[in-house]
Parts: sequence; C-alpha cells; structure tokens
Amino acid sequence: MRKIETGDLWWKNAVFYCADVETFYDWNGDGCGDIRGMTERIEYLADLGITCLWLMPFYPTSRRDDGYDITDFFGVETRLGTLGDFVELVRTARSNGIRVIIDFVMNHTSDAHPWFKSARRSVDDPYRDYYVWTDTEPPDTSADVVFPDQEDSLWEHDPKTGQWYLHHFYKHQPDLNIANPAVQEEISRTLGFWLQLGISGFRVDAVPFLFARDGAPGDPGAFDPYEYLGDVRNFVTRRLGDAVLLGEVNVEYEDQKSFFGGPDGDGLNMQFDFIGMQRMYLSLARGDAGPLADALRERPALDITSQWATFVRNHDELTLDKLSDAERQEVFDAFGPDSEMQLYGRGLRRRLPAMLGGDERRMRMVYSLAFSLPGTPVLFYGEEIGMAENLDIAGRLSVRSPMQWTAGANGGFSTAPARRLTRPLPAGLYGPERVNAADQRHDHQSFWWFIRDLIYTYRQQPEIGWSTPEILDQPHAAVLAHVCREPSGWAMVGLHNFGAEGRLVPLELPDVAPGSVLVDLLDGRGEFPLDDRGRIEMQLDAYGYRWLRVLRPDEPPII
Ligand code: NOJ
Repeated sequence: MRKIETGDLWWKNAVFYCADVETFYDWNGDGCGDIRGMTERIEYLADLGITCLWLMPFYPTSRRDDGYDITDFFGVETRLGTLGDFVELVRTARSNGIRVIIDFVMNHTSDAHPWFKSARRSVDDPYRDYYVWTDTEPPDTSADVVFPDQEDSLWEHDPKTGQWYLHHFYKHQPDLNIANPAVQEEISRTLGFWLQLGISGFRVDAVPFLFARDGAPGDPGAFDPYEYLGDVRNFVTRRLGDAVLLGEVNVEYEDQKSFFGGPDGDGLNMQFDFIGMQRMYLSLARGDAGPLADALRERPALDITSQWATFVRNHDELTLDKLSDAERQEVFDAFGPDSEMQLYGRGLRRRLPAMLGGDERRMRMVYSLAFSLPGTPVLFYGEEIGMAENLDIAGRLSVRSPMQWTAGANGGFSTAPARRLTRPLPAGLYGPERVNAADQRHDHQSFWWFIRDLIYTYRQQPEIGWSTPEILDQPHAAVLAHVCREPSGWAMVGLHNFGAEGRLVPLELPDVAPGSVLVDLLDGRGEFPLDDRGRIEMQLDAYGYRWLRVLRPDEPPII
C-alpha cells in the first residue's frame, strides 16, 4: 500500500452513505427528520461500518426541489435544526470514525434567494449579474430540459425587466452566473464556511450544467469553466488538505475525463460512475454480464488521486439516459413496465429490491458486485435493509420515503401522527413491519448483516479502492469475472453470476507467483490452490458471487 497517501486520500477506500436529514430520524416528534435525530443514529451508522456520511441539502430552502432550491447558503433549515446541531453532528460522527460531506449546489439558487429577489428588480441591480440574462428571445430549448414534466424551456421570461433568465432545472431555480468573480467569491466564502465547521468535503451538484451557458450573452472565451473548477479544488484543499470534491457528472466516459483533476489539483477528486451503473442494470435485465464488462473495459483509467464512486441507486430517478432507446426499453420491461414506475421517459422511480421482486439472491449479487469493483461504494439510506420505494409519493421522491427503523408505528421514524410525516412510508411487502433496521440488526442472516459484512470486507482490503479492473476471459456470458490489481502485487478476483443457473467457471491468472492460492473472502476463508499455470475452476451458484483474494506464498495469511 502507499503508506503516505492512504491517509490523505481517505476517500479512495471509504464507504459513503447518503442520507437526507428530513427522512432519516425525527428526534423532536414533529414528523420531520432532524439533525439531532441524525446525530442519534450515528452509532447505527458506525456499527454498519460506513466511513463517510453524505448529507443531502439541509439549508434554508423554498422546498420546491427537496432542498436543492437554496435560499441561504450559510444556514440550516429551521425544521431540521440549527448550526449548533450541525456542529454537534459533525463532531459526533467524527468521534465515531465517520467523516461528513455535504451537498453543495453552485449551479443555481432558489428564486426566493435574496440575491435573485434583488436581481430581478432592475437591470441595474447590483445582483443582476449574479444570474444569466438575455434580452433576445431564446431559441427553442424544449429538447434540453431536465424535468420535461414541468418545464419546456431553459429560459424564463421575467416580465418586470423584459429579459429572460437561464435555469437548467426548474424555472424557480435560476442559474448562477459563475463566470462573475463576485459569484465565485460567494462560492468560496460558502465552501470555506462549511469546511470551518468540520466537514471533509462536498458532493457537488449538477457539475456539467455549471459549464453549459447555452447561448448566454457575453464573450464565452473569457471564462474557462475547467480552470474555475481547478480554482475551486485549489481553494478547498488550501483550506483543508484532504478535502474531497465528489461531483455529479452524468456524461459519457470520454467527457468525464476532463472533469477529473490530477496530482496538480485541477478538478474533481471523484465522480459517480453513471455509465457503469446504467450498464449494470442492462446486464441484470438481460442476465448477461456483457454490457457491464464492456463498460469496465471502456471506463477511463484514472490518475492515482482520482476515484470512481460506485453506486446501485441514488436519490433521483434511476436514470437510463445513456442507454440506447431499445436498451432502455429492455430495462423498463424487466424492472419497471408500468408507466407509473417510469419517469421523464428516461428513468425508473423504484428501488432495487422491488425491481428484483424481492429476490434476495440477486440483491446480494448486485451489492457484492458494487463493493468488489475498483472504486468507492456509495450507499443510499435504506439500501442496507432492502427498503423499497413508495410509488404513492410523486416523481423522484418515491425513493425518499422515511427510513424504516422498527416494525412499530411510522416505522419508528417519528412519534408524530402519520398524517404529519415528511412523507408516507410504504405499506405491504416492503413496509416497516417486514423491512426494518431493528429486526435485521438482531438477525445475523439478514440483509443488513450481509451489507455490513461486505462493508467490513471491503475495508479490510483497502487495495480494492486503489486498484484497476481487468475482465477475465471465461466461457459464460452470464458471468462477470474481473480481477482488481494494485501495483504492489495485490490482486483479487470477483465472480458474479447474472444468470439463474449455477456455473463452473474456469479461470486463468497466468502472471501470479507459483504456489499462489485463492482465498474466499466472503465465505469462510476457504483456500483454493492455482495450478502451476495459474489456472483453476471455481463453482458459482445461480446469482452467485465470490471475492477471491490472490494470496502469494510469500504473503502473511489473511486474518
Ligand atoms: C441534481 C440533484 O441530484 C437533484 O435531486 C436536483 O433536483 C438537481 N440536481 C437540481 O439541483
């Protein structure tokens, strides 16, 4: 292992957990989750084994995009708590070995933000240039809107001044003009403020949109967004040497490269692997590992100071926008055939367990896969207990129902009357009576314990996060056989079966030291010797999964 950098680049082998304060745990019984509730549950998260908590927006908000419409970058939404509560949360997390990163939205504000309220008063307002305006009627941008159910243009006419303002998301979320040095200063002030309160970095919202000025007037050459991203990274790491910037960048692999920084610190440290995620679902739908294997082959190799964030599900629609129409339809047919399960024509508003009909073999295989790939895994709250969505909740929020803690009233989320809850819990098969953290924590055969074991095994092999993947040839289309290698010579083979039939998988690892064995990290530490040409046959159950550490004869045993 790289002894020096492992500490600085803590996020290379962290386990992230994304949670929304308002749906996690209600401490004061008003029906809405709060920061003190989150603090109360740090012990649970520490036991689960996660090492970094990503908090979705908790800032003062006009509540029209679940907090991504911010009215004050320096505060905490009153319903959720106070800045004092926030500091206690960060402090408690840290003393339990958990870092905290927070969502940061630099692309836009709410239209109720004082800057925008001022800006729209007149063309001469001092805040006018905080936003992007045009006085000529913009072209048709209806094909580019992010939320086609609600918007038909990226521009909104503002009657007071007769100009149009840019908004990549909802019209109530005007885009900030980040080319404006005054806005850049506000952004730095905000980042610096939260770093001072003890956080370890940011999940940066909607990064590519920051860069897309979509015909905004002014000299486009005067501002280099990539250079600005580098400035942000430099600023953040000047304030806190090991801070991380985890960016939301859903673009093709080739285009993702330019958003990553390198040792010179000129971009994001981490990006979500949206392409790998989408191809994984296609593989699942087909029972064929091919699409995911292709993605892993195409995925750009990264500089040592950059990282992929691997995820199965996030808080938005499960976007399938980078698949072809026919491929997307295959995933829709398999996992969300009803129109109420689909969203924006490009995604699904379901969680994995429901999509897989509750088949725990496949659920386990998927998470085993996610944790075994080179990268840093990111869980979305509730995934560890197999929570499903509540389709009664509109749009993307179907997957943001309250955390299910117990089998009791309101799933133990809140003591308030059910009608006062932030959102309703699902009923039936995936309701809290059947799916909850308390029951699973007491049952060592549960999904919770399975995820916990994966987390600890991933953490016991920190090289996974530092490794690069290679796809191994073998004859079964349903099987993904990959080997993670790390320059020290460390190697681990992952086997994952997308098919409903067990397989005998012949493997060949020609470059391993003679006398090496494969050690099964998930199943009893059984040892399997490779022959003198590095060959072996391994049994894989239907939807089976195995993590096989390649142990050289000169290495100490795995304890
Ligand atoms: C991306 C976030 O993930 C999403 O939830 C939000 O609505 C948009 N950005 C706008 O901030």
